[in-house]
Amino acid sequence: MPSAVIAITGASGSRYAVRLIQILVDSGWDIFLTVTREGAINLDLECGVTPKQLAEEYGINLEANQNLAARSASGSAKFDAYVICPASGTTIGKIAAGISDNLATRSALVALKERRKLILVPRETPVATPHLEAMAKLSSWGVVILPASPGFYKNPETIDDLIDFVVARILDQLDVEHGVGSRWTGKEVS
Ligand SMILES: Cc1cc2nc3c(=O)[nH]c(=O)nc-3n(C[C@H](O)[C@H](O)[C@H](O)COP(=O)(O)O)c2cc1C
Repeated sequence: MPSAVIAITGASGSRYAVRLIQILVDSGWDIFLTVTREGAINLDLECGVTPKQLAEEYGINLEANQNLAARSASGSAKFDAYVICPASGTTIGKIAAGISDNLATRSALVALKERRKLILVPRETPVATPHLEAMAKLSSWGVVILPASPGFYKNPETIDDLIDFVVARILDQLDVEHGVGSRWTGKEVS
């Protein structure tokens, strides 16, 4: 069974994470979720649920962000991928600086040291220079920087369409077969 660590941090965009969890669970993935304090504030504002309710709804494992003895804090615990969605500028800056002071940042540092797949989904605009530099550094180390930046060329009609646009790109990075959104098949332009 493929497994992933998912961290929801304090940027707007927790709806992307909820949809991602839903699809990964449906696809048979084992999920270990952690939510930071500001991540929980956004989760409540945007989805009206607590981390515990989210974990119970999808039958996934919830690990406390303060618990650095949790399973996902260790490199000896194997996971196929680590996704921080949404990823706050603070969390991104800490990871780039090698700071692992909570479970979200620690599991990301585990992914880096073990050379495992790490996907960060930032959501902030405009972007502060230290966060841009942190993203450039992380990208050069093989981290996938996947901004929550939906495209409009397929004429989305609903918020769910916009969410699916971004989630489909994350699923592609995880090599998950999915039917989320439609794929671009080309268009003739003169
Ligand atoms: C309601 C709310 C919305 C926020 N939105 C963003 C955001 O979209 N992007 C971002 O980088 N930070 C955002 N922040 C700021 C982060 O939450 C803050 O930097 C925090 O320290 C992040 O900590 P964490 O990474 O441990 O969750 C927001 C904070 C709050 C309370």
